[in-house]
Amino acid sequence: MVEHVTEPGWAEVERYLTDVVVRPDAAHQRALASAVEAGMPPIEVAPNAGKLLRMLVQLSGAKRVLEIGTLAGFSSIWMAQGLPDDGTLVTCEFLQQHADVARANVDAAGVGHKVEIRIGAALDTLPMLAGHEPFDFVFIDADKQNDANYLEWAIRLGRAGTVIVMDNVIWDGAILEPERDRLNAPGIVQALEMLGNDPRLDATAIQTVGSKGWDGFAVARVR
Ligand code: DHB
Ligand code: MG
Repeated sequence: MVEHVTEPGWAEVERYLTDVVVRPDAAHQRALASAVEAGMPPIEVAPNAGKLLRMLVQLSGAKRVLEIGTLAGFSSIWMAQGLPDDGTLVTCEFLQQHADVARANVDAAGVGHKVEIRIGAALDTLPMLAGHEPFDFVFIDADKQNDANYLEWAIRLGRAGTVIVMDNVIWDGAILEPERDRLNAPGIVQALEMLGNDPRLDATAIQTVGSKGWDGFAVARVR
């Protein structure tokens, strides 16, 4: 595992932006507290990133969102809030205990009627989502070894115009020194190369700093 280092100033500025601009609601706070209480790792997206996801869902006019990697449902709440009332978010989670925490959180947030949680390895549950309406928006934030496989599924389950967001594409800079994290960095690099090379995708990648260290996200559009 690569060490994620956060400079004090980055976290302080993020807190300021969260308080002054992002303004998370009680449901977001509840989800964060529940994750701590359940002993889950603090690896959910930062609040400013969560709100960006909500805005991207709204701006794209998405009605069907796919999330790979639920954790406690923090990003699920943000994205479900960006959906119309008859919209759907399908979120894939490996662990039953995480899914239970997420279920309670999306229900408490008043978006539970839009959220379906699929439990198990996403590579096993994603094939079951084929043959339905395509997804308009896909957020990939699970095990990094499978990032390229998840991109492939996002394309397969999407349509021309589907927006794909992938978290953790910088990994404290380890993408340039994969030997620092042989478990995760090679999978991230493989996905970045696919984002740049695959003729079905048009993509960019953005670096970020904050409470989650030095990291970033990619945004892609299916051609
Ligand atoms: C980890 C996973 C994430 O999705 C993230 O945003 C940060 C860290 C991790 O597995 O360490
Ligand atoms: Mg992440």
